[in-house]
Amino acid sequence: MYTSKIAGIGHYVPDNVVTNKDLEKFMETSDEWIQERTGIKERRWIDPKSDDMPSTMGTKAAKKAIENAGLTPNDIDFIVFATLSPDYYFPGPGVQVQDLLGIKEIGALDVRNQCSGFIYGLSVADQFIKTGMYKNVLVIGSEYHSGGLEKTTRGRGVTVIFGDGAGAVVLSRSENNHGILSTHLHSEGKHAKELALIGPATNRWVDQIMSENDPDDTSYYPYMNGNFVFKHAVTRFSEVIMEALMTNGHQPGDINLLVPHQANLRISQFIQKKMGLSDEQVYNNIMRYGNTTAASIPIALSEAHQEGKIKEGDLVCLAAFGSGFTWASALIKW
Ligand code: UT7
Repeated sequence: MYTSKIAGIGHYVPDNVVTNKDLEKFMETSDEWIQERTGIKERRWIDPKSDDMPSTMGTKAAKKAIENAGLTPNDIDFIVFATLSPDYYFPGPGVQVQDLLGIKEIGALDVRNQCSGFIYGLSVADQFIKTGMYKNVLVIGSEYHSGGLEKTTRGRGVTVIFGDGAGAVVLSRSENNHGILSTHLHSEGKHAKELALIGPATNRWVDQIMSENDPDDTSYYPYMNGNFVFKHAVTRFSEVIMEALMTNGHQPGDINLLVPHQANLRISQFIQKKMGLSDEQVYNNIMRYGNTTAASIPIALSEAHQEGKIKEGDLVCLAAFGSGFTWASALIKW
């Protein structure tokens, strides 16, 4: 069996900055409420006039990751694309990335695990490399939330949280056994509707939504039972981080950098306190980007890497929780 390592990282976020004050213009909210409850100061929302889409943003992040790995697009053997906001209902954006990169007809897989999507994708890529099937796998997380959010006071509990952007890594065969030590994936589908966008989908087709023409119908906007999700998040994050540490004979103090999915700063701070970690051991950038779901971990990892916060030999832990519910972790010896 081979070991896989993150050989290159990159991210891309749209230029358009939307501050909390900007949101006050079209809903009853306040900079104070948003910062106090979530830690978010601003987020990036795609300018609809730009060519930014999950596929194009993902490709931009991927190109940076490929360059950062010292590779060319044709060195990539397989694409894994994680998103909850694909350009099209089908096909998923993985195939669009294959086209946009202008590369040979390699396989492209789309992952639908929302906030845990990037770690699920990383785990899939890790298996392909471990078995020797592929040498370089591109793993992308990219989201375009802003176009589908309800930008009124009714939608404020969800809308103020989410942002757009993309991050990517190239996972490659490691030469020195440094790399992904283990990944851990979980789900609990009985809570599927607690954080979901129900329609339009096969349980609720567009025809049905349009024929009912119900002004109170919010099924085509994302719904989140915030308090319920929060309570489950803090428990599952801690569990899955401990699972990764215990599997590899480590304890929280051994972590050099924890990069949690950026769901809410209060969640990250809760985990940090519970695990007895210092500020230097936890990376957060939700203040600048909000919650970018599948893109949040690779964007954060990319920024942390650019800022020199990750060194060769460091123990890096990734962890996520979100819609599904799904939760996941990955422990990496850098
Ligand atoms: O990434 C996937 C996983 N997602 C998460 O982990 C998110 C988990 N949940 C959360 O982060 C938090 O629950 C939220 C940030 C979504 C909400 O924070 P909260 O502290 O749980 O607030 P709440 O939902 O209990 O609402 C408190 C009050 C309510 O008013 P009343 O009923 O007390 O009068 C809300 O209507 O705050 C009101 N409210 C707002 N006020 C101003 C809700 N959203 C807003 C808003 N601006 N944007």
